[in-house]
Amino acid sequence: MSNELLAEVVSALPMPALMVDQTERIIASNADARALLGRNIDGRHFATILRQPQVIEAMEKSLRSKGPANSRHLANDGAQDTAFQVHCRYMQGVGAVSGGAVLATFMDVTHLEQASQMRRDFVANVSHELRTPLTALMGFIETLQGPAKDDAAARDRFLKIMTAEANRMNRLVGDLLSLNRVESEERIRPRQQIELIELLHVTLETLRPLADDAGVSLNLSAPENPVRLPGDNDQLRQVFTNLVENAIKYGGSGGSVDVQVSVSDQDTAIRGPAARVRVIDKGPGIDPVHLPRLTERFYRADSHRSRELGGTGLGLAIVKHIINRHRGRLRVESDLGKGAVFTVILPM
Ligand SMILES: Nc1ncnc2c1ncn2[C@@H]1O[C@H](COP(=O)(O)OP(=O)(O)OP(=O)(O)O)[C@@H](O)[C@H]1O
Ligand SMILES: [Mg+2]
Repeated sequence: MSNELLAEVVSALPMPALMVDQTERIIASNADARALLGRNIDGRHFATILRQPQVIEAMEKSLRSKGPANSRHLANDGAQDTAFQVHCRYMQGVGAVSGGAVLATFMDVTHLEQASQMRRDFVANVSHELRTPLTALMGFIETLQGPAKDDAAARDRFLKIMTAEANRMNRLVGDLLSLNRVESEERIRPRQQIELIELLHVTLETLRPLADDAGVSLNLSAPENPVRLPGDNDQLRQVFTNLVENAIKYGGSGGSVDVQVSVSDQDTAIRGPAARVRVIDKGPGIDPVHLPRLTERFYRADSHRSRELGGTGLGLAIVKHIINRHRGRLRVESDLGKGAVFTVILPM
């Protein structure tokens, strides 16, 4: 194969790629490789270009053994890390001198590694969240079988706690299933037409007992006319239930939770007709450092208080996925001591 042809083949590869022959110099490279490793790499010794010891080793091994070798290359462009899987593959009958050459390709595996890291974190989180109530349950079972066997008063008390712990596990499993369902449907647009104000009335009515218990007044202010938009009734109820429930649970000390609806022909966030629902509380608010991560699974701004109140930390993750499915937006504004405003923007 002529050197021109080699260069053509290498430049057609859809990832950084370069070739090194038995002179140990780079005889061809593509634009992606030059963007990754430096502009003037052709003709240079590979060790001065590849630089990372494990990659140099793989190249040496491949040249010497005339066989395959693999390695990992880590790059950083100042803003983020990128991980590459490097494959060195020996090719016979090419290169300036006899003895063949090695083609090295750099496959970007950053997303794969991130996805598997996320999966590991998720499993670790779920196990941890389930283990806490489970450990409590096992402890009480042991106590009821042993020391508290004939103590009727203790039995009643323990069974109450055990019920609460079991309920917690049940809620967690329910939320996980819900999250799974919502995620798998995220790309399917909702087809139903819903009426937003009626939906909010119903949602607030079901939460009124919770608000009354917490001494919170729940108020809805909405336009006179119905607000119709494409949406999934059950999912949107889930969204507003969680937001209003959070406002009552975490912001209830402010005494009131207000839900305000407004409609615009040209919403700035959607760039088209949209409805905005704002859930406003006057409670302790959220430290702005937490805001960017608030919709992550299991993320809690005040984890002690959230657990105490029976929260799973999955509510806002579910909310976000549902709003994404509706091609809407979620905005959170808050500061310590200033209450919180959660705004849901839904295209009409
Ligand atoms: N209105 C609010 N005021 C203050 N903190 C809030 C408010 N809403 C949410 N948070 C914080 O955000 C965290 C995440 O909320 P999210 O709804 O995802 O979880 P949760 O309420 O703990 O659990 P779940 O909704 O599953 O019962 C909460 O734990 C709480 O710390
Ligand atoms: Mg919640």
